[in-house]
Amino acid sequence: MSEYTLIATCAFGLEALVRQELDDLGLPVSEVRDGRVLFEGDAEAIAQANLWLRTADRVLIELARFPAETFDQLFDATRTLPWAEWLPRDAFMHVTARSHKSKLFSLRDCQKIVKKAMIEALRARYNQERFSEDGPRFPVEVALLNDQATLTLDTTGPSLHKRGYRSDAGSAPLKETLAAALVKLSRWEPPRLLADPLCGSGTILIEAALIARNQAPGLQRDFQGQAWPWLPAAIWQRAREQARKQIQPIDIRLLGSDSDGRVLKKARDNAEAAGVADLIAFQTLPVSQFRSRKRYGVWISNPPYGERLSDRQSLQTLYAELRAVWAELPDWSYFMLSGDPQLEQDLGKRASKRRKLFNGQIPCQYYQYFGPWPERAPRE
Ligand SMILES: C[S@@+](CC[C@H](N)C(=O)[O-])C[C@H]1O[C@@H](n2cnc3c(N)ncnc32)[C@H](O)[C@@H]1O
Repeated sequence: MSEYTLIATCAFGLEALVRQELDDLGLPVSEVRDGRVLFEGDAEAIAQANLWLRTADRVLIELARFPAETFDQLFDATRTLPWAEWLPRDAFMHVTARSHKSKLFSLRDCQKIVKKAMIEALRARYNQERFSEDGPRFPVEVALLNDQATLTLDTTGPSLHKRGYRSDAGSAPLKETLAAALVKLSRWEPPRLLADPLCGSGTILIEAALIARNQAPGLQRDFQGQAWPWLPAAIWQRAREQARKQIQPIDIRLLGSDSDGRVLKKARDNAEAAGVADLIAFQTLPVSQFRSRKRYGVWISNPPYGERLSDRQSLQTLYAELRAVWAELPDWSYFMLSGDPQLEQDLGKRASKRRKLFNGQIPCQYYQYFGPWPERAPRE
């Protein structure tokens, strides 16, 4: 089976988690760059990575990397690649371009040159002039960085955060990949109680339940590479069958609450669609009324950030409520993803650790307040 250089792309700040996930899958990482983790693997690795990676956005195949300061260089190096090994006669060639700190900066021209070179290579090989492009889609990207071109092929299709369980996006949902990252960074493990008392559409809890159950996040969706003749259906099928067998029966109850009953309806629907509704109890509840008798619980939330002045006042009320509720749960650990730079100050509590993350385009901090580690299985 052919070996490929593969790239798992991810949001800035999540590279170490993606690397850890690839290590856990037994896929050897060769390099970590901003937003990209490179690894080696065959067709099976492509299926495994797509099916299992929780914190990455896409799995790309690196087709080539070469210097490209002129359009001629870009054209010539692209044309010499073995395109007919990858693209069938009817391939729909969807080429996109990116450029940063490079002499070739016209994206439209880069895109056109690459496509022209691909077609020329295919003409020579398939001995035909025109291509119908009505077959499977092959998303090729040319990325220029410091006058180096990297050509990649996207095996994923819609980003991996689209797990297939979310019916309606809700008002301000977290991406599933980021929610999974928050859970992993918290080092939560059953049987510790996990709660999100500002849970919105439930993304953090659903991702935590999938992790606890060892359920592959991609089981409910398809991937672009499934349509390609050289990534045979049997490989994907086998990976899915194995993943189904790896689901662990587990009996835990995660707690989700929110003051907005309508958003909780979405949370319940999403949990149901993800197959983890039995693991999460959702309740309409203002955070000020959150109580628990469990010890050593873990609280992970993505509170409202507040950008207007009026929001600032409601945020201060919310923080005062959090302070009061947390005072009753002194041995819990708290994790808050927020774009509010004043969170620690207004909460009156310095985080044990902070980590810079992005919620889409919004720069955020993951404020981590570590409580005591339970010495033995937690008791009520
Ligand atoms: C940024 S959203 C959380 C989004 C969530 N992580 C998701 O993926 O859908 C913040 C949530 O906090 C809830 N909220 C705000 N103030 C609250 C309060 N005082 N009590 C309970 N929930 C509150 C809002 O209703 C909203 O759903």
